[in-house]
Amino acid sequence: MRKIIIAIDGYSACGKSTTARAVAQELNYRYIDSGAMYRAVTLYFLDHHVALTNPKEVDRALQQIKVSFVVNSKGSSETFLNGINVEKEIRKMRISENVSQVSTIRAVRVAMVEQQRRMGKDRGVVMDGRDIGTVVFPEAELKVFVTAEILVRAFRRQKELLERDDLVDIDSIIENLQQRDSIDSNRAESPLRKAEDATGIDTTHITIDEQVDEVIRLALTKMIRPPK
Ligand code: DC
Repeated sequence: MRKIIIAIDGYSACGKSTTARAVAQELNYRYIDSGAMYRAVTLYFLDHHVALTNPKEVDRALQQIKVSFVVNSKGSSETFLNGINVEKEIRKMRISENVSQVSTIRAVRVAMVEQQRRMGKDRGVVMDGRDIGTVVFPEAELKVFVTAEILVRAFRRQKELLERDDLVDIDSIIENLQQRDSIDSNRAESPLRKAEDATGIDTTHITIDEQVDEVIRLALTKMIRPPK
């Protein structure tokens, strides 16, 4: 079977990462969480007080940033910023509150997209994000666009944060998700939108296992089909 690129895009907290990770594991593919890369950049910018409106400062900072992924002993991928494990730190609310703004900056996107393309050059990857099917890999063999109702998304995110001992009230989560939806969808650079050839999956009423099964089913039809 040929190796393909699977692009999973959609709104925050729709189950993209969980699905992408499980699909990658099942197919023995590499999982790349592109959102984690923007989160790591945001962490660096916050900790180094980078002025987002100063292009020179942003460029200088970007040259100092190397984001990588390491698979841990449990088989899941963890995010490293300049060699330091930042997986826990980048999931915190202070990052969620700033990441969409950082992701609107063109220089940030150019730097991340270049790294993402390099990571996918041998194919056999599942990458999730906002612009994977539209900008990073417009030629991806399988594109999925995930949606879900806002309340379901908020409760899922709250559970995820709780598992990391971070108790955040549901209203703050809803507000953050809505704010990010708006910034991600309305930005000038690579706004979040469904690629024309993407398959939509509404995950409001389905389980993670059902989401994973559906993506694998779609992937298999592409993997056995010879390239055009
Ligand atoms: O998937 P996530 O919620 O961890 O992503 C965090 C933010 O990163 C999201 O609000 C927008 C940005 N992002 C992006 O602009 N492009 C991507 N491919 C992935 C994420």
